[in-house]
Amino acid sequence: ATDGATAAGQPKIPFGAAVRDGPLQDDEAYRQALVQYCQLVVGEGGLKWVDLRPDRSSFDFHQPDRLLAFARQNGMKMRGHTLAWYAAMPEWTNAITSAAEAERELTTHIETVVGRYRGEIPSWDVVNEPLSDDSSASVGLRDSVWAAALGERYVDIALRTAHAVDPRAQLVINDYGLEAATEKARARRLSLLDLVRRLRDRGTPLDAVGFQAHLPGDLDIDTDGVSQLVADLKSMDIEVLVTELDVIDDTLPAEIIERDAIVARRVQDLLGAILSVTQPTAILTWGLTDRYTWVPIWYKRGDGKPNRPLPLTDTFEPKPMMQAI
Ligand code: XIL
Repeated sequence: ATDGATAAGQPKIPFGAAVRDGPLQDDEAYRQALVQYCQLVVGEGGLKWVDLRPDRSSFDFHQPDRLLAFARQNGMKMRGHTLAWYAAMPEWTNAITSAAEAERELTTHIETVVGRYRGEIPSWDVVNEPLSDDSSASVGLRDSVWAAALGERYVDIALRTAHAVDPRAQLVINDYGLEAATEKARARRLSLLDLVRRLRDRGTPLDAVGFQAHLPGDLDIDTDGVSQLVADLKSMDIEVLVTELDVIDDTLPAEIIERDAIVARRVQDLLGAILSVTQPTAILTWGLTDRYTWVPIWYKRGDGKPNRPLPLTDTFEPKPMMQAI
């Protein structure tokens, strides 16, 4: 489904969405919409430590196995999310404190998980959200089990291990808050670029940066800033992709036509800024339909109206955001 070319002769950019495990099993209309629109899928959960590692000695692969089977049956590819993140960690990992233990646990985890899906999952969010979120002045490393024990070295360990296990997989550092026209987003772009430079200087393998792109609906996209970051990455041979696109619409107008138009414009601005420099290797939204979205968990609207952050309505009708993509 990902082959073919546009009129301009450019290969098509694969589109996909994060998939929720529950409705994947019991909502046939949802499954059909995924098949109709997506060339790529990624689990909204399932490969996170909290889902995969109930205890130190076991791995529970049933969710990612189910999604991979669905993808294969329908000619789609699957991305992996995620191998090293500060959040969604099971309780028992709090007992990991020494550097040696942290390195051993992280390495074993990545060897086991990437090894199981070698050749089947061609792209991994190896490190998710490495940047801290505390101040706009200087953006350091996000605190985590891994950062506390290993410092920035955890990023190198994760990437090197994943590369050793599946040298052909696209290895991605994925983060949010990079897109808006704010000082904070600017600081995050610079900090991310610095991290990528240090990794390169240490000879650590990295293929791409993922823009999560949970876009704040009430802020403009810094199109020049985004283009500049993509260009700077390109000059280091680092690809980009959009991994978790949605538009946070909690403070946008209630009126639907107006709201959907703003949502679509944010998406168009972001994708335009990237495409003016290069083709992203993929574009994925964090969910496909407003029926199943994480947005109201964090950004519920004050007026009680449902959020509309995604390309399809809650009854699977395409919205202006889908046209924009
Ligand atoms: C979210 C899921 O969508 C929720 O269902 C879950 O409860 C928490 O995690 N950035 C990420 C994703 O990288 O893993 C997050 O997913 C959303 C923000």
